Amino acid sequence: MNTTPRRVEHQQTDRGYIPVYTTATVEQPWADYTPSEHEVWATLFRRQREVLQGRACNEFLENQQRFGMTPDTIPKFQDLNKVLKAGTDWEIVGVEGLLPDEIFFDHLANRRFPVTWWIRKPEQLDYLSEPDLFHDLFGHVPMLLNPVFADYVQAYGRGGVKAHKLGADALMNLTRLYWYTVEFGLINTPEGVRIYGSGIVSSKGESIYCLESDSPNRIGFDLERIMRTQYKIDTYQQTYFVIDGFQQLMDATLPDFTPIYARLEDQPAFPAGSVQQDDRVIHRGTGEGWVKTGDA
Ligand code: PHE
Ligand code: FE
Repeated sequence: MNTTPRRVEHQQTDRGYIPVYTTATVEQPWADYTPSEHEVWATLFRRQREVLQGRACNEFLENQQRFGMTPDTIPKFQDLNKVLKAGTDWEIVGVEGLLPDEIFFDHLANRRFPVTWWIRKPEQLDYLSEPDLFHDLFGHVPMLLNPVFADYVQAYGRGGVKAHKLGADALMNLTRLYWYTVEFGLINTPEGVRIYGSGIVSSKGESIYCLESDSPNRIGFDLERIMRTQYKIDTYQQTYFVIDGFQQLMDATLPDFTPIYARLEDQPAFPAGSVQQDDRVIHRGTGEGWVKTGDA
């Protein structure tokens, strides 16, 4: 039988509404997925593989293929873990949904990536307000096979444990970094700007919008700029930050953030869609036709 995800707490934050779930890891109830749930996976998988040709970076597309994910059935965590363990020594653990920050950080710091076991309903193909199996598996897991990115996510987890002890402001600065890189990051490649962020690759609408719309800003990666930039979780992004390579991300985030957090404490935050004086502007957004809803 299918168990219902158990939400334990709801948080209304300045970023929007955030449900928080039970903290335990769970077995993936694979035998309980219904034909309709496998069908949701199949539809989304086919659709996104096609949309992402020429839009997602090669690291994403190639690593996703190495897992042998197919549209036929929802993948088994067990099978993916064989590839992931052998590749970068990460593993997937099943969870009910979003976790409290400290628990999430602890998983990442130990090279465990929490994946929501349940998948969205057929009427939610285009929009869902929280991460589900499709977002987590299709979106996040492929990049964990890239050695540099795999180390970056672990370092983020360790940084999270530290930021959590430092307080709410440090935590907010760090969370923005995750948002604008792991979730909504773009990368410059010889072929042009490409997607690596998980929140984008799991959304058909945003995969096209982030690269082809004139509406959002596309700005060169800058650590402190990102740490000061607000974001919304229930709309397409108004600003994307573009890295020049994954090593840049690693190098920029290597130093101890403690003095950076301290410095940022007295500085005002930047609104999500703003352009600042020192920005390396790749595209200045028109802000027109700005889309009110985005996929998870
Ligand atoms: N260097 C960061 C710190 O001292 C840790 C970190 C690394 C955070 C990579 C994010 C990404 O907190
Ligand atoms: Fe995510």
